[in-house]
Amino acid sequence: MAELVGIYAASHGPLIARDWDKLPDALKQRLGAAYGELGRRIGAARVDTIVGLAPDHWTNFFLDNLPALCIGIGESHDGPPELFMRDFAPSPVPGDAVLGQHILETALAGDFEPALSYRLRLDHGLCLPLSRMALRQFPRIVPILINELEPPMLSYRRCFAWGRLLRDAIASFPEAVRVAILATGGLSHSIGEPAMGAIDEDFDRRCLETFARGEEGPLVDLLEHGAASAGNGAHEIRNWAVAHGAAGGRSFDLIDYILAPEVYVGCAYAAWR
Ligand SMILES: [Fe+2]
Repeated sequence: MAELVGIYAASHGPLIARDWDKLPDALKQRLGAAYGELGRRIGAARVDTIVGLAPDHWTNFFLDNLPALCIGIGESHDGPPELFMRDFAPSPVPGDAVLGQHILETALAGDFEPALSYRLRLDHGLCLPLSRMALRQFPRIVPILINELEPPMLSYRRCFAWGRLLRDAIASFPEAVRVAILATGGLSHSIGEPAMGAIDEDFDRRCLETFARGEEGPLVDLLEHGAASAGNGAHEIRNWAVAHGAAGGRSFDLIDYILAPEVYVGCAYAAWR
């Protein structure tokens, strides 16, 4: 049977890639250490497949076709289209079609109705953290793209339910595969709106403390009422909520929180216990 061997989260501000050479050395060192620690843990867990929870930054979908959630069930996926990610490898990105299909079937049997794709293009949302982690052994990827750009979006309550469904789907997968969940995005940030560049440190710290305490009710209250005013990028915390649901509400190790106005994002890195 498959085993869920780790659940992780990391921010993915695009300037962490595009402007890397311009960032202060101390910031580069700290960001590099946070991604590196996640990479070390994923390597130590001998992960075969990562279920990657990420937003789609208008890469695959737009207003004419915008699923709330889409599971990638293909044998491979395309690498990032952004020029600043042109060195990303491997591209195409290896998928895990069998596990993806199993998650999809489990979802439909459990009254969840995701969209599906046999080939997604994975943008910086998922690929930036993966590249910065410098994984020695690149795992297969089952991408799950969640609409976090254009309301209405999945409720946080539903995100926790998605996490529980993912955990059950992985636990019932009959092949001996070591699976990790990687949630990317958040915390507070604004992109392309008047508050662009603003970081809500108070919200970020309350968010991390509430995740660490683990109770779902206070998290739903905080996120439903607080995330929208922490910048449009804070909608990406939905991925953290899915991961938290998969962890059964356990606490996490906060690897780092980096208030980084240089990249416009309150950057956070965590591994669930
Ligand atoms: Fe993003």
